[in-house]
Amino acid sequence: MEQYAIKGGNPLVGEVEIGGAKNAALPILAAALMTDETVLIENMPDVRDTNIMLQAMESIGVITNRVDRHTVKINGSQITSLSITADFVKKIRASYYLIGALLGKCGKAAVVLPGGCNIGSRPIDQHMKGWRALGADVRIEHGMILTEAKGPLKGNHIYMDMVTVGATINVMMAAVMAEGLTIIENAAKEPHVVDLANFLNSMGANIKGAGTDIIRIKGVEKLHGTEYAIIPDQIEAGTFMFAAAATKGDVTVKNVIPKHLESITAKLQEIGCEIEESDDAVRVVAAKGLTHTQVKTLPYPGFPTDMQPQIAVTLGLASGASMVTESIFENRFKYVDELTKMGADVKVEGRTAFIYGVNSYTGANIVAPDLRAGAALVLAALAADGISTVDDIRYVERGYEDFDEKLRGLGAQIEKIESERDLQKFQMKIC
Ligand code: UD1
Repeated sequence: MEQYAIKGGNPLVGEVEIGGAKNAALPILAAALMTDETVLIENMPDVRDTNIMLQAMESIGVITNRVDRHTVKINGSQITSLSITADFVKKIRASYYLIGALLGKCGKAAVVLPGGCNIGSRPIDQHMKGWRALGADVRIEHGMILTEAKGPLKGNHIYMDMVTVGATINVMMAAVMAEGLTIIENAAKEPHVVDLANFLNSMGANIKGAGTDIIRIKGVEKLHGTEYAIIPDQIEAGTFMFAAAATKGDVTVKNVIPKHLESITAKLQEIGCEIEESDDAVRVVAAKGLTHTQVKTLPYPGFPTDMQPQIAVTLGLASGASMVTESIFENRFKYVDELTKMGADVKVEGRTAFIYGVNSYTGANIVAPDLRAGAALVLAALAADGISTVDDIRYVERGYEDFDEKLRGLGAQIEKIESERDLQKFQMKIC
């Protein structure tokens, strides 16, 4: 099984180019099948989750053609099946976006219940409520979500009980070609919700208000082909920004939208980093020692839950006592045991981690419990004295393209290894 071998202790310095947003790419891919015309999507991240989504779409007859590593063409004119049963589909949570897309286009869809990262219970009641409100019959049977519209879907007024990215996106897709007006209240405002709305509008949809609490969707008869570039990945960018902080480095993240990073830059400034912003880049300089802070994850524009492990790992090296509260998912502190092996002083009570800063971490053999926690543990290893191995890096590869290569570009000593022998070679090379 592949691992990262990491020799830590060097500040990361230099520039890193951020790719397209995974969490925007996944619903955009699904939505691309909603027209019979060809859609060209640029800035597509080449990560495991997007590749599984493409495979799932191929499995029902959608034609996908990778023009180059980051550009794909999608043609949904020859869909042969509205049922996605293959086991590999369960690997990605976002497979449920195919329901919104297929229900919206064809009035029917069946998809195996999704998996994804194990970060807490992840109900889909709000998705189901939204589809039902549009007139679909929705059931869960034999591990499948089954949806079917009796007649044409009809616009409706839907109030989300909590802010949910997934349900906002899934209802938006189903409503795009429904008759009349759909209003989603208490909608998620995340940049990827806005990106999907912009993408659908570029296909001829009529969606207003994405990025606010209330999204208004006027149904259109059909969608057409488009060319569209996905927004930069807020979380990949944030991860490299915290990598700079944790290693006391100086990193410029390029090809970003600084507005999407505001909650992250604010926290970095609070703990003592200097931030320089330009139109499409942010530089993080961590010259001074870091100081403690408090943070609570919240829906956008709050501090993202997908950045919670990265800030916690960094605060573990900041002076004083910090508090990190997770308000979105209940099981997102599984990395704490691993971090403790590296010398961190963290106690978790309920949804809050109490972090007492230590001077440094020490290298250890650790395991990535999920995607973002895996990336955060890599940051810990990069900051640690000595050598670490990080196991189960397939989680990290779900959402980070060329993570090790990009880190090496900043001076990190990190390599993918597959055996004890590879580890010995790595040790020889760095000594
Ligand atoms: C998406 C992101 C994930 C990110 C999360 C929060 C993708 C593929 N995943 O996940 O990386 O961590 O947003 O920004 O884009 N909830 C319900 N019922 C529902 C739906 C959600 O109770 O029907 C709850 C969830 O349990 C959770 C909260 O609402 O507590 C937020 O979930 P949601 O925003 O939907 O997260 P995901 O879309 O699964």
